[in-house]
Amino acid sequence: MMDMSSTRTYNHELVPHKGFTLISGIHDPDDVDQIYNLEIRDSDVFVITYPKSGTIWMQQILLLLEADGDETATSKFNNNGDLIPWIEITGSREAFIKAPSPRMRVTHLPYHFMPSALSQKKGKVIYIARNPKDVLVSYFYFHKMASMLETPKDFNEFFERFLQGHVFGCSWFEHIKTWYSHKDEINALFITYEEMIQDLRSVVDRISLFLGKQLNDEQLANVVKHSTFTNMCKIPQASYEQVPEELLNHRQGRFMRKGTIGDWKNHFTVAQNERFDELFQKEMKDFPLSFIWDIR
Ligand code: A3P
Repeated sequence: MMDMSSTRTYNHELVPHKGFTLISGIHDPDDVDQIYNLEIRDSDVFVITYPKSGTIWMQQILLLLEADGDETATSKFNNNGDLIPWIEITGSREAFIKAPSPRMRVTHLPYHFMPSALSQKKGKVIYIARNPKDVLVSYFYFHKMASMLETPKDFNEFFERFLQGHVFGCSWFEHIKTWYSHKDEINALFITYEEMIQDLRSVVDRISLFLGKQLNDEQLANVVKHSTFTNMCKIPQASYEQVPEELLNHRQGRFMRKGTIGDWKNHFTVAQNERFDELFQKEMKDFPLSFIWDIR
């Protein structure tokens, strides 16, 4: 979501574009449209997330897998986002074209903007889903610190905005449903934030296998060790503490906020929870997957 080098001030405008919204000053609609035509190599990896679902967590895991578990590999960079950038940010596409393999990128874009070559099973896609109730809470706090997003008046106002999809990312439901409906056309691994919390090692093993990596047991253990919440908090590149103040106001919060499951219970009223459940049932009734969080 972030342009690490920008010195602009933002007008917080969400710009409607082809069934999605882009952020004024961060995304350029013409540039985003060109992503569809990108040539894709089999070694390319795209991490797809609705915002606040574990994007920077996966950046850290992928970088560690690439470095055989060596946590010092990223230390000469300011942010993991410099190594695994958001493809939709202005200028990112051009850098992608010239980048050496393996090219790893994150994105919040819906399926229809992504390179058409993905649907010929070129490249690899990792989709991370998170309980949308926790996404909502995490996103609320992120809006307070992110300069490019409008600060919510209060939690209730943001709750309504999220339910209506009037946020960057639009509807959480549409995002996951559309991506999942194309799962057989693309080389995709679907995982959840909750699985990562519950058993990070087994998720790391699955990712490693999916990417065809050949790490030994100790190296895989190091990937896990250096991507826990506590340890990522100690690594400034991984925790986004070095993102400039004009993009993230670090006095208003931390990117690595809580890193837990179920924080929505500390925020939703009973009535809000009922409304959310009703909407979830309606939107997801035909969705073939059940999630770990269903039983919580
Ligand atoms: P919280 O705000 O609930 O703490 P994204 O990178 O997609 O913006 O997602 C950010 C969310 O992922 C934040 O959630 C952040 O704390 C959480 N996160 C990042 N790294 C994590 C880790 N190693 N373990 C658990 N949660 C992590």
